[in-house]
Amino acid sequence: STSWLLLAVALLPATVGVMGGGGCQVRLLSEASCKDGGECPYQLALPPLTLQLPKELHLLETTAKELQILRTTVDQLRNSCQACGPRADRSMQGDRAEVPGPDSEHGRQGPSVREMQAKMSRMSNSLRNARSQIGSLQGRLEELTLLNMENVEAMMNSKVQNLTGALKQLSYSCSSQCSAQASPQFLVAPRDCSDYNVPGKRNGLYRVTPDPRNGTFEVLCDMESYGGGWTVLQQRLDGSVSFNRTWDAYKHGFGNLRGEFWLGNDRIHLLTKAKDMVLRVELEDFEGVREYAKYERFYVADELLRYRLSVGGYSGTAGNALRFNKLYDHDQKSFTTPDKDNDMYPSGNCGAFYSSGWWFDACMAANLNGKYYNKPYKGVRNGIFWGTWHNMSNEYYPTNYRQSFKTVKMMIRPKNYTP
Ligand SMILES: *[C@@H]1O[C@H](CO)[C@@H](O)[C@H](O)[C@H]1NC(C)=O
Ligand SMILES: *[C@@H]1O[C@H](CO)[C@@H](O)[C@H](O)[C@H]1NC(C)=O
Ligand SMILES: *[C@@H]1O[C@H](CO)[C@@H](O)[C@H](O)[C@H]1NC(C)=O
Ligand SMILES: *[C@@H]1O[C@H](CO)[C@@H](O)[C@H](O)[C@H]1NC(C)=O
Repeated sequence: STSWLLLAVALLPATVGVMGGGGCQVRLLSEASCKDGGECPYQLALPPLTLQLPKELHLLETTAKELQILRTTVDQLRNSCQACGPRADRSMQGDRAEVPGPDSEHGRQGPSVREMQAKMSRMSNSLRNARSQIGSLQGRLEELTLLNMENVEAMMNSKVQNLTGALKQLSYSCSSQCSAQASPQFLVAPRDCSDYNVPGKRNGLYRVTPDPRNGTFEVLCDMESYGGGWTVLQQRLDGSVSFNRTWDAYKHGFGNLRGEFWLGNDRIHLLTKAKDMVLRVELEDFEGVREYAKYERFYVADELLRYRLSVGGYSGTAGNALRFNKLYDHDQKSFTTPDKDNDMYPSGNCGAFYSSGWWFDACMAANLNGKYYNKPYKGVRNGIFWGTWHNMSNEYYPTNYRQSFKTVKMMIRPKNYTP
């Protein structure tokens, strides 16, 4: 019980420490309920309760054993007593003078009635003693157990109350300090935008902590489209930001979260590692045609594995360009940038050729990080590209111009998310 209580004591400062370190970004979910069939935002596993029983319990056991032996002996005695016959009966009735003769059968074979009487009285005494001892032990035991349980319960109640109080305080101070988007809910370190999603949330910048060891960072959340809860990884709007960048730039991310940006491969890795994610790609061309591609599986490995992409489970209207066919399949491809060639093209760097960082095969059926053209263009196909766009197959005819895109957005959300 001691170590269990120690753990309960350690719980409070540790939790508060995490919240304090994160400032307004970190929230604890104290009153939210788990989603139907979904996971709870935070779970706390307590070790099984071990109660140290008092050592008197052992005594009780010993006494019980002794009592059993005593009973057996008493039974034996009683049997042999009955065998003594009338003389024994008489003697029991108080005839002290009556002593069995030296030639008596019973006198020779068993103990004398007087001896037995003495023994019986000793035994009944010790039986009484044992009984009262057991009674008092039982009482003490109940008292002790009750005491322990009450202690533990009171301790836990007080801990929980203090924790809730601390949470509320923190949450209130956060709501007043942070932007209007601050949540009134008590969330523990949201891992991605879906953890913020309560009715009425607006699109905007939120802080997330996919892995506490790797800190907290800001992301753009789409809380309004298709049930909300989307963490945006990439956005193209106007061509104000160049995507012709180095490995290091793609690693850390670049651009402006309120405009065009790449969130960064390290962050994308952390987000997709924290939960099973689905990817949604939104595309719109300059004719106002809007299509989407959704992938049930989306994971980006870490830098050691060159940010290898795992993608699959397509549905949507834009076509499955990420897994176009056997020759052009972006699944399980490493990330390539103009200064780091990890692609499948043997005699050149697809990233340098198409001026972007992407999970190139040899080379591509899709490249959402291509150059932003605000009108159809000619020459090298280094613009934003989605190979299954509705009129891509007749791209060259009759004008020889290439398709350009007005807006592109890549966003992810936990697979088990329910709006
Ligand atoms: C809870 O907080 C009160 C004061 O706010 C303090 O007296 C009490 O010891 C705390 N309980 C625990 C278990 O930390
Ligand atoms: C991309 O950057 C490289 C190196 O800075 C430069 O040589 C190349 O012209 C750029 N490509 C485009 C399309 O801007
Ligand atoms: C996350 O933190 C761990 C431990 O500090 C570190 O080894 C790892 O490289 C970090 N990962 C990223 C993507 O920053
Ligand atoms: C693709 O279709 C749009 C209409 O959705 C049209 O305006 C555009 O010119 C077409 N692009 C090409 C390259 O044929």
